[in-house]
Amino acid sequence: MTPSSTPIYSALNRYIQENILRLHMPGHAGIAPALPHAWQNLALFDVTEIPGLDDLHLPIGIIEHAERLLAEAFGAQESFFLVNGATSGIHALFLSLPSPAKVLIPRHAHRSFFGGLVLSGAHPVYLPAEIDNETGLSLATSVTAVEDLLARQEVQAVFLTSPTFYGTTSNIREIAAAAHRRNIPVFIDEAHGAHFYFHPRYPDPALSSGADSVVHGMHKTLPVFNQGGALHLGHGFRFADRVKNAFSLLTTTSPSYPLLASMDLARHFMQQHGQELLDKGLQLAGEYRCKIDQLPGFSCPGRRLIKNGVTGADPLKILVLTDKMNISGFEIGRILRQHYNIQVEIEGDHYILAMMSMFHQPSDWERFYRALQAIAKDQQSHTANSRYIRPVVPPAPLVVKSPREAFQSASRRIPLAQARNRVSAEIVAAYPPGIPALLPGEMITGEIYDYLSYIRQIGVRVQGPLDHTLDTIAVLEI
Ligand SMILES: Cc1ncc(COP(=O)(O)O)c(C=O)c1O
Repeated sequence: MTPSSTPIYSALNRYIQENILRLHMPGHAGIAPALPHAWQNLALFDVTEIPGLDDLHLPIGIIEHAERLLAEAFGAQESFFLVNGATSGIHALFLSLPSPAKVLIPRHAHRSFFGGLVLSGAHPVYLPAEIDNETGLSLATSVTAVEDLLARQEVQAVFLTSPTFYGTTSNIREIAAAAHRRNIPVFIDEAHGAHFYFHPRYPDPALSSGADSVVHGMHKTLPVFNQGGALHLGHGFRFADRVKNAFSLLTTTSPSYPLLASMDLARHFMQQHGQELLDKGLQLAGEYRCKIDQLPGFSCPGRRLIKNGVTGADPLKILVLTDKMNISGFEIGRILRQHYNIQVEIEGDHYILAMMSMFHQPSDWERFYRALQAIAKDQQSHTANSRYIRPVVPPAPLVVKSPREAFQSASRRIPLAQARNRVSAEIVAAYPPGIPALLPGEMITGEIYDYLSYIRQIGVRVQGPLDHTLDTIAVLEI
């Protein structure tokens, strides 16, 4: 590894070797007797913006060099390290838009989009949620849905999520082309897709598909510490200065150097070994998805997800549908943890999602498979038909206050029975499908009231409101 291939990590090593008396932040001074032994080495790398170690807000040295290498690796015009996760990149992109902006976003977007709308004051134009029949999940945004809304609404940006949490991608190439015909930029929350750039048989990366800006949660799929992310600007991006200002406004003046160095190292590692490791992951995924799919009561759709607007599926996201088992995905997740020492990424009523990494060995895949095999055997009773209640798509929202206005308004809690025609002050989403029925600032119309009463009655899990029973709901004082 030459200093020029990992500028941040190499500069930190040089600083440590010089054995300098540290009369600067952080307070552990690199001596760290207060820290557990195993962390002491890490403390040596935990420094601050002293001469030679550059400044994340105005990079002209090692950070500028590392960001240039990052941009080259991802095919971007310019890239920035994020030290507060993909969330901060999403917020920065919203904040970079001229005010008042209208932004086309999917209804199933991550909650950091809501934060971006509050911070920027932008108004959302929601793409209606589309639900896949086999999985009951929202897996893609269709080109026609985007085209339809672009024809009817004047927006300043399109901001989509691809891949989804489940690893499924949308047709960014055609969506970007449709938006660009109207001179509208396309931003992609590709938080779960940073590894796509290092293997041609993984789903198409958003930047090379024409996105103007892309946000990565690098810690999600690459060997990077938590909170490490990247914000990339595509070639020809016109508002780089606005994005830089927004990024700087939202970013700490004390970024973690171990975190920055882990991103520097990961980019270099992926350029050297990414393709080979991703290739092994691809082979193992193909083999084990097929084996899991044959277990009684389980199915593992994998590439079968590629239909109805889904253009790619991340091989390392192992979605296992459990709806033909007589126990729920939550229960299966609990059994995996308690009896097999395996923790999956997420469980739902009718599925579990295992996030495999390119570092998992054949023995790890085998261990996961054997555990599922044993569960399938123990729970011998399966149903021929799906056991779970098909999720109902919530009715279309009626936005009466922008997320920012709603966030800043006074609110109070009232019984749900009295909430018809009031404006919600909280998020309400039923799982599945996890698509919000309400966001702050949206009217509890008769239709939405009926939907909320229905999901209460059938006992679906609700996320968002402080009162999960939905006996009461917070509404705006207007
Ligand atoms: C699709 C998506 N976007 C954005 C984020 C936010 O990422 P981070 O936690 O790195 O801020 C997440 C986090 O889970 C996510 O799933």
